[in-house]
Amino acid sequence: MSAVATLDLAQWRPTLTDDEREAAARTIEDGGVIRLPRLPFLLSERERRFLSPEWSDGRAKNISLDGDRLRGASGAAADQAELAAMIARFAGCAAELVTALFPRYAPFVARARTSYRPQPAVGRNVSWRKDDSRLHVDAFPSRPNRGDRILRVFSNVHPAEDRVWRVGEPFEAMAKTLLPRVSYPLPGTAALLAALRVTKGPRSVYDHLMLSLHDRAKADLAYQRDCAQETVHFTPGTTWLCFSDQVMHAAASGQYMLEQTIHLPVSALYDPARSPLAILERLTGRALVPSH
Ligand SMILES: [Fe+2]
Repeated sequence: MSAVATLDLAQWRPTLTDDEREAAARTIEDGGVIRLPRLPFLLSERERRFLSPEWSDGRAKNISLDGDRLRGASGAAADQAELAAMIARFAGCAAELVTALFPRYAPFVARARTSYRPQPAVGRNVSWRKDDSRLHVDAFPSRPNRGDRILRVFSNVHPAEDRVWRVGEPFEAMAKTLLPRVSYPLPGTAALLAALRVTKGPRSVYDHLMLSLHDRAKADLAYQRDCAQETVHFTPGTTWLCFSDQVMHAAASGQYMLEQTIHLPVSALYDPARSPLAILERLTGRALVPSH
């Protein structure tokens, strides 16, 4: 069965029935990808000049907008202001979409970070751990989230090229395969990393396991080759969303994508029992975050 569900929505703030909203929530919380091929993020004629990797400052992977701070961009102040406005407009569209599809998530869309990726998805010379052309779930070394979810909205703004992903097996199947190869953190490690400010706040056992699953999957080329997977094409003008901490995904090709990241507490989910935290606690038989 495909992990991808295609919906025929053509508006950022679509009108949906309760049944349609429930089906969308079930799909995404089950680890599916919702693909919206008729929901393009349209660039103005002036904004089309941003379809070039030269707007990247060459150091960061993405150009990102955090509040009103633009990072990773080159260009004059006026150009950067227009680029920031384009990214902010996408943030508004993504917030409307998430609010319409999943009203329970609405209170959490405001504090999100938005980015623009002008570089090709593959071809950068990076270490295996940073190589997003290998299947992985998202987990960030410096940002422990203690079970919070990572919901992402993407849009392919390339005028002609598909963005292509590989999508792997369901989270639980992946965890059953890779968890036996993961070791638990040494006592005191989390406090030490937080004290040294390597992490923003202490890393929970959940964070340690998620980072380990991310690394074990990427490091294992036989797993990359042999696990159940499908190739998914996001044609120009397609928007899609998924929980990227749950969906095994790999970027195969593409360029020019906007991306919105929304962090959600597990309590915001329609069914917390299907979250990676609940699955990992069930599989390991222990509590993985403090006091929840
Ligand atoms: Fe990723």
